[in-house]
Amino acid sequence: MAVDEAGTSTTDLLGRSLRDLRISVTDRCNFRCRYCMPKEVFGAAYQFLPRAEILTFEEITKVAQVFAALGTRKLRLTGGEPLVRRDLEQLVSALAAIPGIEDIAMTTNGSLLTAAKAQALKTAGLGRVTVSLDSLDDQVFKSMNDVGFPVARVLAAITAAQQTGLTPVKVNMVVKRGINQASIVPMAAHFREAGATLRFIEYMDVGNSNGWQLTDVVSAKEILELVGAQWPLEPAAPTRPGEVARRYRYLDGKGEIGIIASVTQPFCGGCTRARLSAEGRLYTCLFGRHGHDLRRVLRDGSSDSDLAAFVRSIWEQRSDRYSELRTAQTTMSPKVEMSHIGG
Ligand code: GTP
Ligand code: 5AD
Ligand code: SF4
Ligand code: SF4
Repeated sequence: MAVDEAGTSTTDLLGRSLRDLRISVTDRCNFRCRYCMPKEVFGAAYQFLPRAEILTFEEITKVAQVFAALGTRKLRLTGGEPLVRRDLEQLVSALAAIPGIEDIAMTTNGSLLTAAKAQALKTAGLGRVTVSLDSLDDQVFKSMNDVGFPVARVLAAITAAQQTGLTPVKVNMVVKRGINQASIVPMAAHFREAGATLRFIEYMDVGNSNGWQLTDVVSAKEILELVGAQWPLEPAAPTRPGEVARRYRYLDGKGEIGIIASVTQPFCGGCTRARLSAEGRLYTCLFGRHGHDLRRVLRDGSSDSDLAAFVRSIWEQRSDRYSELRTAQTTMSPKVEMSHIGG
């Protein structure tokens, strides 16, 4: 096992450590964003995972403990929508007790993030949240989430998170050409004043349901030009190695934005992220196909050290760099759906 300066980290074939674990706690979501869970695929007949196939909080905690022992320092809860899983704060408090874990965050659509829920999560040990919001225009946003969910309630969730101290709050905006490009500048204007860090995300070819085409992508360059023309920006250094967002600071001191340019400026070289699906499969890349079955190991009487050896052997064989190798062929290849591994 390769060891980093802390003496604990497992590295892959490209020398990348296993620093982050993204945990999907459910494959369900109360939104049907067209770029993620289009209704034509995720309709009434869609079979979500039955309860028995989903990892329990105890099983997730055991996986996280094993990862922490292998060098993981950062956990992120995702879904689907993580807050549709009941009593999520109980999981957070178990995760917060794991030695070595320094950062616990959650990516949510905000629809269920009331002030009371935010407080319960904070008390349990959640550090910060990232809330997805693709437009400030109700018509555009309702059509993108495709369940008619209004902007105001997501803004209320962002405020609740800020007031509870689940900070720094970040806001994720997926930009899709012809759909919400016109929302770029208004979103920047709003969040410059509202004290949250807005991140623009290039629309990605995740999964096989969203009908992605390269022409739908609004590039980081275009986004920067649009925002920078209104309020001049300067690049800022990453807050840590392997950060997915490139940071840009407003010259007038009103905070910063991030741009996540997985399509036009891939960042696989610093990718230290593993992903656990709700049914306990481990994916070593967002664009993976099958994942490795950790649930079987969790449920067949194997010891924690067996599980650790399994995870380590998976990571040590990892060579994924999908975004750097993306071609017309790879975008068509079968891949796990975003709602299964939470982005
Ligand atoms: P921070 O810890 O705040 O930097 O969070 P994050 O940006 O890693 O997490 P978030 O869930 O907010 O993800 C933001 C966007 O980046 C989503 O669209 C994710 O799908 C995408 N993303 C995160 N990690 C990766 C990655 O390893 N590869 C690719 N291609 N995209 C990623
Ligand atoms: N491309 C880019 N980002 C996406 N997300 C969901 N689907 C896509 C996609 N196809 C975003 C969500 C959420 C984050 C986890 O990933 O909006 O903010
Ligand atoms: Fe749900 Fe997030 Fe996917 Fe939208 S992007 S359908 S909110 S999981
Ligand atoms: Fe990591 Fe795969 Fe994303 Fe590259 S495409 S940054 S390897 S998850």
